[in-house]
Amino acid sequence: MTHRFQAVKGTRDILPPESALWNRVEQTARRVFATYNFQEIRLPLFEETELFARSVGADTDIVSKEMYSFEDRDARSLSLRPEATASVVRAYIQHGLHTRPGLTKLYYIGPMFRRERPQKGRYRQFYQVGAEVLGSSDHPALDAEIIEMLLVFLDRCGLREYTLYVNSIGCSDCRPKYIERLRGELQKVKDQLGADSRRRIETNPLRVLDSKLPEEQPIIEKLPSILDHLCDACRDHFQKFQQELKDRSLAYEINKRLVRGLDYYIRTTFEVTAPGLGAQNAICGGGRYDGLAELLGGPPTKGMGFALGTDRLLLALRQVEESGGKDQLDVFMVWLGASALRAARMLARRLREQGISTELLYEETKLKKALGLADKSSARYAVLIGEDELAQNKFTLRDMRSGQQRAMSESALLRELAASAGASAAEE
Ligand code: HAM
Repeated sequence: MTHRFQAVKGTRDILPPESALWNRVEQTARRVFATYNFQEIRLPLFEETELFARSVGADTDIVSKEMYSFEDRDARSLSLRPEATASVVRAYIQHGLHTRPGLTKLYYIGPMFRRERPQKGRYRQFYQVGAEVLGSSDHPALDAEIIEMLLVFLDRCGLREYTLYVNSIGCSDCRPKYIERLRGELQKVKDQLGADSRRRIETNPLRVLDSKLPEEQPIIEKLPSILDHLCDACRDHFQKFQQELKDRSLAYEINKRLVRGLDYYIRTTFEVTAPGLGAQNAICGGGRYDGLAELLGGPPTKGMGFALGTDRLLLALRQVEESGGKDQLDVFMVWLGASALRAARMLARRLREQGISTELLYEETKLKKALGLADKSSARYAVLIGEDELAQNKFTLRDMRSGQQRAMSESALLRELAASAGASAAEE
């Protein structure tokens, strides 16, 4: 028996009509980000493994357990990218982008790969829309402005319910002292913790705060908070950042346990969650990563950004979008007779040139059957061309919702359809 191939576990095909929603979300990102002066960067899908080990952190789950790594023919270890911030910073250094004037504002759209246990909202190939600002500014207004851009984007996509959580995880001055204090407290309650958290007391005590184990929650609630251990500069930054959010009327909640699963963050961290997604409810995460460029051998650089999980955003949007998800076909063209086909072909080409989507039958089909097909295609209009129309040098435009028909000249038809296609694009 021949093997029936299936998409590999944790990967999936995105078929129409769902693919239209993906395009719409990505198009919205491009539009909104451009208004904040961001430009697109297209990055490789794989990099040297060491790039991720150094930036995301060798002890993180992402690097130690979840990367798709392989040895290339020249024995170098490469990995499919589990995230893109490391690649953006690598590109920033490699191309000397710091020598360009002003801040570097970049966005990316594309697949990431992590070998996690697949479940609702969690895939092994998933998609992110991300944005990063690199340069010399660690002004808290920048942190707030990036979040504003993200929330404007979510709003434009039609997401109404979400929560923005923010935190500060300090800097290389204050965090090590806090971590020592945390480690000391964790040692005292070690026996009540699960195996993962016990191990993390040594490797990465901050990550214990991120534990989802129900039995650990009361213990974690009582642990000292990073917010009580920030140095003056970090406390000032966090306060100003919150004021900047308030000045922009952006609602937020502080989550003192928001430490994130990547090592490069300093000061600001944030996440956006949406209801209805079960355990994987974080649709977006980000924060500040001043110093990451130096860690990768680059010049002193501040950085701030986020990545949004497109798969999860679309799950959250599903109900909102269900009604109008499919890209609507504008015109279904019905022709009768060889000379009508010639006219139909020319008209179809002109309509498509104007951005009006058009379906044209390749074979002659009886009028009744052709109109039935037009109906099934959910086209907004049918254009009919037969002998009568050819004789009068006109086309019949049929509104598929009302069933009303009108004979029109080609130029009148183009005008009318262009106006109607323009109106539906403006509705989006
Ligand atoms: P992250 O929190 O690891 O951050 O991922 C960002 C988002 O990607 C998550 O909030 C989630 O929506 C989505 N995501 C992550 N893993 C999966 C998965 N297995 N399946 C589906 N969706 C997933 C980063 O990646 C950082 N690079 C964000 C950043 C940019 N920080 C600063 N700049």
